[in-house]
Amino acid sequence: MRRGFADASTMARMTASTALYAQRRARLASMLGEGGIAIIPTAPERLRNRDTDYLYRHDSYFYYLTGFTEPGACLVLAADGTSTLFCQPKDLEREIWDGYRLGPDAAVAALGVDAAQSSAQLESQLPRLLENRSRVWYPFAIHAGLAARVEGWLNQVRARVRYGALCPAQQDDLCTLLDEMRLVKDAHEQDIMRAASVISAGAHIRAMQCSARMLRDGQDVREYHLDAELQHEFRRHGSQAVAYNSIVAAGANACVLHYRADAAPVRAGELVLIDAGCELDGYASDITRTFPANGQFTGPQRALYDLVLASQEAAVAATRAGARFNDPHDATVAVLAQGMLDLGLLDKNKVGSAQDVIDSRAYFQFYMHRTGHWLGMDVHDCGSYVEPSELGQVSERRDPLSGEAIKNRPSRILRPGMVLTIEPGIYVRPAEGVPEAYWNTGIRIEDDAIVTDSGCELITRGVPVKADEIEALMRA
Ligand code: GLY
Ligand code: MN
Ligand code: MN
Repeated sequence: MRRGFADASTMARMTASTALYAQRRARLASMLGEGGIAIIPTAPERLRNRDTDYLYRHDSYFYYLTGFTEPGACLVLAADGTSTLFCQPKDLEREIWDGYRLGPDAAVAALGVDAAQSSAQLESQLPRLLENRSRVWYPFAIHAGLAARVEGWLNQVRARVRYGALCPAQQDDLCTLLDEMRLVKDAHEQDIMRAASVISAGAHIRAMQCSARMLRDGQDVREYHLDAELQHEFRRHGSQAVAYNSIVAAGANACVLHYRADAAPVRAGELVLIDAGCELDGYASDITRTFPANGQFTGPQRALYDLVLASQEAAVAATRAGARFNDPHDATVAVLAQGMLDLGLLDKNKVGSAQDVIDSRAYFQFYMHRTGHWLGMDVHDCGSYVEPSELGQVSERRDPLSGEAIKNRPSRILRPGMVLTIEPGIYVRPAEGVPEAYWNTGIRIEDDAIVTDSGCELITRGVPVKADEIEALMRA
């Protein structure tokens, strides 16, 4: 069940980019401050039930600095750049049962760290590594129990202060440094994300075509049939896992934002919303497409679909270096607000103009999530959504729906290499005053964008978004 250096091709891929991880460690080390030291554990293995584990997934911060995917490892990085890796020791019996382990002896050359020791040494070595340092950094609120373990190691250092040892007097959240580094993706990361997007786009096409074909053949189509198509396409192209649990929502289920792929029937005449993306070499993709189960939009479906697409186009046009993270959302909302009035989802006699709809947040009945999020190793990737240079500029406003006072800080200024999703939607539940033709319709269109100087690169357009193009590929 474990993944590690399972085969020669994985090994080659890792070795090829050893220098990259060394550069990241050096950059981080330079920010730790005089006498600083950082502790970065990978993720634990997790039990699913009784003695069965969840598929193992490394910690993203740890992987970012090592490229190492085995469990049971921890990196210690000192401000002078010295790196020490603790990793699982070689153990023939465990390797017979669980798989290959790199082991500390091979780790130095394979990963380019300065030293490597068995993870069995971690508890005894950490106090020694922390001794005579001024501050210790580790990711806060990521690893259950880590803060207590750090306290325990520091207590062992404190027990030696009478012998002249210095104990770190400061603890800092390493995420504050790593989140900023991870927010801007380098060329290597962008390449992997493009490759992940190509696989995911192919999987969406496969699921769309499967739906149309099975319905044409008179088969009983279920959400899980389409989920199986996605999985098949992800895995056959080498994706290690899904980046998040796939949503395959037929008909009214599309109005449940966090729906999963379940067993509901996929019926001709209804829409299917699929939000699914693979993880490739530690990086996520995140695509949503909404399509008619049998390949033919009805009139009302098409009207809603084209509105969501127009709102996405506005968001894409607002995504470029120098713009704010909130700009695509505001552009989306402006288009949706006008469209909701035009289609009669909202009654202008009750809610007023499009600007009134925006100001009162009346659109929230049908569009209740944000238009995007950072994307990277984690599907909802790390990185502040507030512009760091403007943290002190706080304004206050009252939320029109809840009446709550909300403090606003200026939204993040986009820079080349940031990656975000653009994912507007409309979700129409049955309600008084809402035209019945739109009831139980949920539509979202989601693409992944790399910010560039002049705009953005949509890396997920291997699967079309235009209604006519979707219909054409479902006829194929
Ligand atoms: N698939 C998770 C999201 O779109 O945010
Ligand atoms: Mn998303
Ligand atoms: Mn998504």
